[in-house]
Amino acid sequence: MKSINVGLIGLGNVGSGVFKILEDKKGLLSKKIGLKINVKKICDKDIVSKRNVSVNKGLLTKDVKEILNDPQIDIVIELIGGIHPAKEYIMEALKNGKHVVTANKALLAQEGKEIFAYASERAKNIYFEASVGAGIPIIKSLREGLVANRFYSIFGIVNGTTNYILSEMSYNNLTFNEALSQAIKKGFAEKDPSLDIMGIDSAHKLILLVYLCFGRLVSLDEVFIEGISEISLLDVSYAKELGFEIKLLATAKKQRDELELRVQPTLIPKRHLLSSVGGVCNAIFVSSDLAGDLLFYGPGAGRMSAASAVVADLVDLTQDIKAGLFKPILNILSDTSIKRLRKIEDSISRYYIRFMAKDQPGVLARISGILAKNNISIASVTQKERKKASVVPIVMVIHEAKERSLRLALEAIDRLEVIKQKSIAIRIEEL
Ligand code: HSE
Repeated sequence: MKSINVGLIGLGNVGSGVFKILEDKKGLLSKKIGLKINVKKICDKDIVSKRNVSVNKGLLTKDVKEILNDPQIDIVIELIGGIHPAKEYIMEALKNGKHVVTANKALLAQEGKEIFAYASERAKNIYFEASVGAGIPIIKSLREGLVANRFYSIFGIVNGTTNYILSEMSYNNLTFNEALSQAIKKGFAEKDPSLDIMGIDSAHKLILLVYLCFGRLVSLDEVFIEGISEISLLDVSYAKELGFEIKLLATAKKQRDELELRVQPTLIPKRHLLSSVGGVCNAIFVSSDLAGDLLFYGPGAGRMSAASAVVADLVDLTQDIKAGLFKPILNILSDTSIKRLRKIEDSISRYYIRFMAKDQPGVLARISGILAKNNISIASVTQKERKKASVVPIVMVIHEAKERSLRLALEAIDRLEVIKQKSIAIRIEEL
């Protein structure tokens, strides 16, 4: 049986999982694909520490050139993450005629244009299933399964860490800091969870999904991004009372000739399936013209789940190599009906708002007066406590309003002497 030689760069969590699958399922995979996948070399900075898989010492190297310059290696798997030197390794692999598998969403979101163009120039394939939703086959579904569709929207819960934190706040009444500590203790959060908490990781994933659905590779600064660190247990609880869950939602919505892109904490009605996506699970809800509304759901992080996606890419590549297929990632047609990206100030939505105000006559009248002046209509109001001469939360839901009007109104309201804390506004997505 013919062999395809693979070089693996990065024997960390996911890399060791990939090696384990290739060892454990060697027989099954070669029966299914009619080829042997042979890991010829593994490169890592650390070739001494024990991994939870046994690796023949002869396979290990610290010198990446032993992979990049080996003419017998057909496929390079990059699993080191980060921008540099991952980018240089991938470019060198493509230059030397190798196909590439990567899970590196940050790199592709930031440098995808150059990398995809170079892969196309060299007629090499680049696969990146594990970069979004780990083992959920969302990339393949969008590229192949839904190839004949036009897309209207993508709503994704695409970060396991933040979803775990928000779920713990909602289900177990933990504060943000308690939930974050628990995520770190249980090993769900990255060593530095700031990219997750700030919404950057979700934005990287949204950029890749948007590329596959709408054919535009936007840059990070074209996505409006807000993280979850300002979300308090108070808001999670009030939202629940109103029939919503708060989720960090990555959204791409086509409206007429504009595309709205944002990652932000969002209230999702409990009747929608996305509201019940809990813990480290991810879910991507796409609306398309032919296949309709589809939900992709499953563990969005984790060693074997991500490794499963890498192996799937590897198998696809073996078939491409066998058939001599070049599948350019650049041939995704852009949706030409989209003329521009919508400015966040022009986005329209219902909102949940919490004011912290003095409990005295006339406060509500002053707040609602400013809202009315900005053309904002109130749907419901609840004062959550009664504490004479003290500060109480006032929770409002407003009808659809332009973000620009809401910001102006909140600035004016927050200047009132009866308002004692910065007001909180969280978007409501009807879906
Ligand atoms: N840090 C990511 C998450 C997993 O929490 O979902 C890798 O994409």
